[in-house]
Amino acid sequence: MRLSVIGCGYLGAVHAAAMASIGHEVVGIDVDERKVASLSKGEAPFFEPGLQEILTEGIASGRLSFTTDMSAAQGAKVHFIGVGTPQQPGGYAADLTYVHAAVDGLLPYLSEGDIVAGKSTVPVGTAESLAPRVFDRGATLVWNPEFLREGWAVQDTIDPDRLVAGVPSADGGPTEEGARTADVLREVYHPSIAKGTPFIVTDYATAELVKVSANAFLATKISFINAMAEIAEVTGADVTTLADAIGHDARIGRRFLGAGIGFGGGCLPKDIRAFSARAEELGRGESVAFLREIDAINLRRRDRAVDLTVQALGGSVFEKKVTVLGAAFKPHSDDIRDSPALDVAVRLHGLGADVTLTDPAAIENARRIHPQLTYVEDRDEALRDADAVIVVTEWDEYRRELDPAHAAALTAGHIVVDGRNCLDAAAWRAAGWTYYGMGRP
Ligand code: UGA
Repeated sequence: MRLSVIGCGYLGAVHAAAMASIGHEVVGIDVDERKVASLSKGEAPFFEPGLQEILTEGIASGRLSFTTDMSAAQGAKVHFIGVGTPQQPGGYAADLTYVHAAVDGLLPYLSEGDIVAGKSTVPVGTAESLAPRVFDRGATLVWNPEFLREGWAVQDTIDPDRLVAGVPSADGGPTEEGARTADVLREVYHPSIAKGTPFIVTDYATAELVKVSANAFLATKISFINAMAEIAEVTGADVTTLADAIGHDARIGRRFLGAGIGFGGGCLPKDIRAFSARAEELGRGESVAFLREIDAINLRRRDRAVDLTVQALGGSVFEKKVTVLGAAFKPHSDDIRDSPALDVAVRLHGLGADVTLTDPAAIENARRIHPQLTYVEDRDEALRDADAVIVVTEWDEYRRELDPAHAAALTAGHIVVDGRNCLDAAAWRAAGWTYYGMGRP
């Protein structure tokens, strides 16, 4: 099927390449000439395992192309909207400027019977408000949220846990037009549906809410365990053992119970804030008032990691050499948007520490935003002569591959703050380190 994808950031670029990899003919459209030039050469503009391969393959097959010219969308049957919905400057609500611009830019190139499929994360009610503009062109709007995780984006796009389609509905079910649209999407995602991926057809509001409530739930799970870490800190309990123990209950589950410096990235933080803002607008602010608390718990963990480092260094980090391992908001990503790791590094620098930061993928992005820090590519070089080491992104390079005895030989002091509870505390202690975890004795 011929498809267009408007917006070639994280979501759009991966979606375009993944759709080409399952056999569709895809054009990706973005206003950013540099991004389009890089994608057209088959070069991924960001770090995402597996993306490079499917980009190169798609371009070589002739099924995948990128352009800045919106008229290239003409002739495609389904047009995916994958532009960003960042937090508004100075507010909590989502900024829908790019969604409106993408839809308005696309309208002149729509043909009768086309489908516009919104993938961007939007406040509930957005699809309903956009739909008349699309219908006026004889096309249909569907909301088809995306659930990909950075670092697993290719796999999550080709083989998602579930597919959700919010289609035009009336009287508790899809209209005739809605049912037809759902069938076209079934065809788009056929390889995945054939393997048993659930395909849920619903109305616009439910589809939009599925996305934000999934992210709200994940954020809540992380902040829940971080709240338990705060209690563990004053009682001498160990939050990692606690998480293992409650995680054995299948109703709770161990995943996303990793206590540490909390969640960041381009999705969870801004999505819970946008959800609160939208609920307020709807007069139901109290229903998700707990999300403010989730956000507050999350941000407190960054303070805690900084305080622990200060305490560990005897009450001040001034002119102390602190090596920060990690800058990305999570491993397998070079994304530093709202990264707790980078935030902790910047705060330590603000307190007068001589911060050296290393990361396997995110140094260039971090340096652009925070040129004041010292960046060192080589992990061992970064560790040299450190008074303290703080692990803030649980890359395998630190979690599994860094031998504590080897690290001890490189550093001046033997203080390690494990901001992600990802190190083997006993092994680090045995190698002579004073180990500090998050919510651990
Ligand atoms: C998140 C969701 O997991 C995806 O399902 C969703 O599609 C995506 O947002 C989106 O809205 O586009 P992502 O932002 O890639 O995906 O990252 P996650 O894997 O959810 O991690 C988010 C943050 O939580 C990271 O900073 C991570 O370090 C932190 N985290 C995760 C914890 O602190 N503890 C955990 O146990 C798990």
